Amino acid sequence: MRKDIEKLISEMTLEEKAGLCSGIDSWHTMPVNRLQIPSIMMTDGPHGVRKERDDTEKGLLSTPSYPATCFPTASALACSWDTELMRKLGETLGDECLASGVSILLGPGVNIKRSPLCGRNFEYYSEDPFLAGKLAAGLINGVQSKGVGTSLKHFAANNQETQRLTTDTIVDERTLREIYLTNFEIPVKEARPWTVMCAYNKLNGEYCSENKRLLTDILRGEWGFDGFVMSDWGAVNERDDGVLAGLDLEMPSGGEDSLNKIVAAVKSGKLPESTLDAAVGHILEKVFEGTENIRKNAAYDKQEHHELARSIAGECMVLLKNDGVLPLERKGTLAVIGAFAEKPRFQGGGSSHITPTVLSIPLDEIKKSAGGGVTVTYCEGYRLDEEQADDFGTGFESLSDIPDEKLIAEAAEAAAKADKTVVFLGLPDIFESEGYDRTHMRLPLGQLELLDAVAKKSKNIVVVLMNGSPVEMPWLESVNGVLEAYLGGQAVGGAVADILFGDVNPSGKLAETFPMKISDNPSYLYFPGMRNKAEYREGIFIGYRYYEKKQIAPLFPFGFGLSYTTFAYTGIETDCNEIDDDGAVTVKVTVKNTGRVAGKETVQVYVRDVLSTVPRPEKELKGFTKVSLEPGEEKTVSFALGKRAFAFWDEETNDWQVEAGEFEILAGGSSAETPLRKTVIVNSSYVKKVHFTRNSTIGDVLADTVGYGILAEIAGEELIKSLPPFVLQLPLRSIHMHMPEMNDEAIAGLTDVLNS
Ligand code: BGC
Repeated sequence: MRKDIEKLISEMTLEEKAGLCSGIDSWHTMPVNRLQIPSIMMTDGPHGVRKERDDTEKGLLSTPSYPATCFPTASALACSWDTELMRKLGETLGDECLASGVSILLGPGVNIKRSPLCGRNFEYYSEDPFLAGKLAAGLINGVQSKGVGTSLKHFAANNQETQRLTTDTIVDERTLREIYLTNFEIPVKEARPWTVMCAYNKLNGEYCSENKRLLTDILRGEWGFDGFVMSDWGAVNERDDGVLAGLDLEMPSGGEDSLNKIVAAVKSGKLPESTLDAAVGHILEKVFEGTENIRKNAAYDKQEHHELARSIAGECMVLLKNDGVLPLERKGTLAVIGAFAEKPRFQGGGSSHITPTVLSIPLDEIKKSAGGGVTVTYCEGYRLDEEQADDFGTGFESLSDIPDEKLIAEAAEAAAKADKTVVFLGLPDIFESEGYDRTHMRLPLGQLELLDAVAKKSKNIVVVLMNGSPVEMPWLESVNGVLEAYLGGQAVGGAVADILFGDVNPSGKLAETFPMKISDNPSYLYFPGMRNKAEYREGIFIGYRYYEKKQIAPLFPFGFGLSYTTFAYTGIETDCNEIDDDGAVTVKVTVKNTGRVAGKETVQVYVRDVLSTVPRPEKELKGFTKVSLEPGEEKTVSFALGKRAFAFWDEETNDWQVEAGEFEILAGGSSAETPLRKTVIVNSSYVKKVHFTRNSTIGDVLADTVGYGILAEIAGEELIKSLPPFVLQLPLRSIHMHMPEMNDEAIAGLTDVLNS
């Protein structure tokens, strides 16, 4: 801790210290005027700066926010698979924070997409913790390079909105470490966020806001976090227990009750004052850093940021299907159908909802981009709700769920007359939002009926989707192209037009699996849980880890995305064939643009443990990089794979361990297509510790080298080698049936030798 901060704390009264551990309102830390301790401001986040007009207002989302650039939301951003792009975005958000006097941006949200139904998936990156963690690290590094802090949220295992403030996430330690903590661990270690926001839910019986193991032992102790932990808004249960556990700041203001609880806990000896001092110190470090970094006349160029939002959106959209209908030619007739073409859905509802500086309308941008050579007609096709959810969703029925026969007939007629048809579909605001989960994966009924009617009249249909999370596509065969635009931010219109006309070659790849139907998803049987418990019974097998293992074909696999060009994976090499688990292997992958236009390809590297004593996924993502290639160009990219690329979380040693043996390194353009493979041997000193008892089986003993030697001596090696499977399963205590001399005493002697 800085010396001047230590001194300040020594001058503070107990009440001042307790007061500083809570916000003064919804968005500011508590100042202490007597000691010239300033207050800093924080705002949501994560894909734009949501600074409310009355920023001292106590209620949540109570006043409209000042305009700020609305970038694509996280589920879109993740499809860029581009950490540099995330950094650039972070720098830009940092500039906008400085221009608004904001010291901490409340994001990124890295929670794992356990189920496509989570209402807040649009705000999260991926089903894969490595991808989510790396992208978050990129964004944090960018924002913080400007002297503005971030808040990595929501820590941890907060993967649904149903009963989000009270539900208890029940998850085993291995799954927690491999899936639901790795996404936090990577950015904490690689980007050192100023703050971490604890989640609303309980984790294995204890609120995250008072979970010492999570907030102190793991976050600070194991990962070296040195910022402050703040609560999600209203996540505090018992404030004194929170401080004890490592929750430094309560947001928003906890009022007199919180202050009194902390003071009483210190006075009664329940809460050591040194623990309170540490919390105050963590907060003050960042309060002073934030204050020093505020620049009075900071400003940014709105147009420049809008252009950036457009190019970022172009890097994120995923071309899911194209039978040759795209890119569109700049001639003939084009029917543009669907109300989203005029009123795009470009962000999600809830705390991340911001007021854009400007909004680019897809229909206008298509007309502009098409130029004079194309005759464009437009039909609404379905109705959108008057009331858009700019707040937490309201749960009312959506108008677009009710087919409008007149609008549908008009659209079908327009499609029949046009050479090509672009249909804008997607999820209306009330279908997905912070605050509640979806109950199904279908598009609104009015849109489905519209598409059905249009598909009967046109043989050249492109669907553009605007949604924050996967939808089912029983209609896929009836269309010629599908562009997944996700929630593309305020420049969505321009970005869609860029891709439709081929000015931008699509390069997004899915950061989540699109299942055929929701019941294929591994969490389906347990989501969102009952009686205030969400049991993660599917364990580590979520997303592609599950679909690959079960050989369930998804609609679109993790990592998938098409381009207007083609790529060939032409070579894989490693710098050695064998490593120790504390070493690293360098993998080189060569990829070639085999098509006729320039394009970008995301090279993905997965690792598979060939043989293991614990269940492991068929493959796990351990490296990725986006490469830009001219037609005919070939590039080689390299990846370093260290221990963590091969390790699993071992619950017995409570640590990451590698089981020695063969590992396959797989490379390709999606989780389902990894044409390149190379085997490496990893040596490891880790051996699964077995404690032998009279209930250990003969098979267990024979698997141990010493045990094998002893039994071979007693029974003869020939006999041992020919033992049938049922004998291998006999516990030692039953051998006496076949070998009377193996009585209890002899068995005890044997297990003693083996255990020593
Ligand atoms: C959300 C957080 C957000 C906070 C402040 C909460 O409801 O869960 O993500 O940062 O509100 O708006």
